[in-house]
Amino acid sequence: MTPRIAILGAGPSGLAQLRAFESARKKDPGSIPDIVCYEKQGDLGGMWNYTWRTGLDQYGEPVHGSMYRFLWSNGPKECLEFADYSFEEHFGRPIPSYPPRAVLHDYILGRVDQDDVRKYIRFDTAVRRVETVPSGSVGPDRFAVTVADQRSGRLETELFDDVVVATGHFSTPNAPHFPGIESFPGRVLHAHDFRDAREFTGKRLLLVGSSYSAEDIGTQCFKYGAAEVTFSYRSAPMGHDWPAGMVEVPLLTEVDGSTVRFADGTDREVDAIILCTGYRHHFPFLPDELTLRTNNRLYPRGIYKGVVSQANSHLFFLGMQDQYFTFNMFDAQAWFVRDVVLGRIELPDHDGRERDIDHWREHEENLRTATEEIDFQAAYIRDLVDRTDYPEFHVEKQGELFKQWKHDKKNDIMGYRNCSYASTLTGSIAPPLHDEWMNILDDSALSFLANDFGTGRSAAPRKVTPIGRHRAARSAAVPAERSS
Ligand SMILES: Cc1cc2nc3c(=O)[nH]c(=O)nc-3n(C[C@H](O)[C@H](O)[C@H](O)COP(=O)(O)OP(=O)(O)OC[C@H]3O[C@@H](n4cnc5c(N)ncnc54)[C@H](O)[C@@H]3O)c2cc1C
Ligand SMILES: NC(=O)c1ccc[n+]([C@@H]2O[C@H](COP(=O)([O-])OP(=O)(O)OC[C@H]3O[C@@H](n4cnc5c(N)ncnc54)[C@H](OP(=O)(O)O)[C@@H]3O)[C@@H](O)[C@H]2O)c1
Repeated sequence: MTPRIAILGAGPSGLAQLRAFESARKKDPGSIPDIVCYEKQGDLGGMWNYTWRTGLDQYGEPVHGSMYRFLWSNGPKECLEFADYSFEEHFGRPIPSYPPRAVLHDYILGRVDQDDVRKYIRFDTAVRRVETVPSGSVGPDRFAVTVADQRSGRLETELFDDVVVATGHFSTPNAPHFPGIESFPGRVLHAHDFRDAREFTGKRLLLVGSSYSAEDIGTQCFKYGAAEVTFSYRSAPMGHDWPAGMVEVPLLTEVDGSTVRFADGTDREVDAIILCTGYRHHFPFLPDELTLRTNNRLYPRGIYKGVVSQANSHLFFLGMQDQYFTFNMFDAQAWFVRDVVLGRIELPDHDGRERDIDHWREHEENLRTATEEIDFQAAYIRDLVDRTDYPEFHVEKQGELFKQWKHDKKNDIMGYRNCSYASTLTGSIAPPLHDEWMNILDDSALSFLANDFGTGRSAAPRKVTPIGRHRAARSAAVPAERSS
């Protein structure tokens, strides 16, 4: 009997898994298992599939999306280029290093369309339960996966030999309580529910947190006219050279009406509070014995090579690490998982896997600087890609680009997106943006791609083709809600 595999989620990680199997199928059509990918949204792209909704979706399911309008890549696109599909190939010419969300979404869809993996995906289908089904002495246990077809409301259960969890981990808010916050007279929200910076034009904002969400939502609100932005940090400030009107203060200790007080005894008046306090790994469909318990870090425990569950070696997790590298790391993980499933990579026994986890974890716990963290994640990816036939993409060179990116951010937090980097695939240096990033208020893909970015190449046919093509494909495949 052909083995069966379930892939949970069709974001960049789940799509990487589908592409990994599809690439094996092209070489040897009989080699891959039967695949079903369950995706609770009406389209693929995961986090990149923008939704205006917050709270619950049209089916009463928690909204997955945490992305917002006017979101631009916060890292250079050269660091997330797929090894086998350059940005230049997709757009037909070089484009700037920091594209807006819709342009990255288009690139993700373009890569997917090359492989036609939509056929494996059941959209509008939410995974409700994954249970192990003992098989006695016949073979390894199987998994019973129960899903809800959102459109009919019916529950269905199917059996699988392997399960890949690719449901992301930046969706369930970590929202701490601060004394008095319940009586704050203005808007209080978590970053997960932030959608449009223009809501805060002219407002005095408090952002709690000192990581990427705080930095990006703060700079964006300032760009769209917030009166003041105050960042409150727990462990350490971001330490950027902020323009007048943006300031970092220690941890929020108390809210008293519209007055907010901080650990250094200072206070100020604000109009809105945004909790940029991160996310929780949350797998409501997994039983206790199979779940992954971790915070947001580079090397979670419980998963060998960052992907194979120690609880059951037929259960896999993709993309559960804190991320410098994203799309190509998910690819590296997916190719490794594929080869474990296909028996091309033999796993050590449980203790051997645990020793390997200990080794990486000990190293991770001793990392002190961002440079060390980048090198660590690059080494992790190298360890994976060297074991499979995933194409070379110069992960170490991309690591060097990340270090340059860190440096450029330190130099100019409001202007780093004006910088350009060279693709490790094509060698092309990205052209500059058509204007300073702070001045570009329209982030739509059509408006962005209408520019020739000084390349002298006509944009007209290319700018419409990919986006038009994906729109058409989406409308044909998906009757329910979609993005962009
Ligand atoms: C605000 C924000 C901005 C970001 N910006 C960048 C950036 O600029 N560059 C970058 O490289 N990365 C960025 N990231 C990181 C981003 O998470 C990754 O790029 C990528 O989306 C992770 O892919 P994933 O497939 O692992 O998870 P996701 O993209 O989260 O996809 C998970 C998928 O699983 C589905 N799913 C979840 N639960 C279920 C269920 N029960 N049943 C069925 N389906 C389910 C979801 O609907 C979703 O489609 C950002 C993240 C956030 C939150
Ligand atoms: N434009 C973009 O591309 C963009 C924009 C936003 C987000 N993102 C992505 O989204 C992902 C998540 O980023 P994130 O910033 O939301 O999460 P994160 O990186 O996990 O950071 C969480 C922050 O919340 C703070 N925090 C947690 N609990 C707290 C508490 N009880 N009190 C005070 N502070 C608390 C943490 O402080 P400590 O340091 O003390 O732990 C940390 O500063 C990242 O991968 C990022 O790249 C990208």
